[in-house]
Amino acid sequence: AVEKTFVMVKPDGVQRGLIGEVLGRFERKGLKLVAAKLMSVPQSLAEQHYAEHRERPFFGELVSFITSSPVFAMVLEGENAISVARTLMGKTNPAESAPGTIRGDYGLTIGMNIVHGSDSPESAAREIELWFSEGTVSYDKAVD
Ligand code: CMP
Repeated sequence: AVEKTFVMVKPDGVQRGLIGEVLGRFERKGLKLVAAKLMSVPQSLAEQHYAEHRERPFFGELVSFITSSPVFAMVLEGENAISVARTLMGKTNPAESAPGTIRGDYGLTIGMNIVHGSDSPESAAREIELWFSEGTVSYDKAVD
C-alpha cells in the first residue's frame, strides 16, 4: 500500500552537512518528498515525540540531543514507505548497521545515529500529526 512516513535528519546529520545525502538516498529509491522543514525542536515536542522512551535511562539525553540544534523533518510517501525508509536507514545502532545503509555508512554511536524514521503505521500517523499538524503536508499534483 502507498504509505507516508515521518523521517528526520537529527542534529548530528544536519551539522555534518548530510541533509542532501540522506534525502537524496530516499529520493533515488523512489520515495517522494511531500513535506519538509528545517527547525529547532521545542522541548515539549521532543518529549512528545520520544514519549515511548520516557522511562528509559537515556530519555534525558535523547531529548537534550534532539533539542540541541536544528533538525530537518520530512514526510516521505511511496509504496511501503515506512519499512522501505527503515531499510535504507539501517539498524538503530550504527555499530551494527550494514554498509550501504545511511547509519552504516555515516554513523558510529547509537545516540548520534543521523536519522530517525517511523517504525510502524501507527507511529507514522502519530509522528506526522505531531510534527506537521499545521496542515503543511501537501501534494504537488504537477510532479505526480
Ligand atoms: P530513534 O530512531 O530516534 O529512536 C529512539 C532513539 O533512542 C534511537 O533512535 C537512538 O538514537 C536512541 N537510543 C537508543 N538507545 C540508546 C542508548 N542506549 N543511549 C542513547 N540513545 C539511545
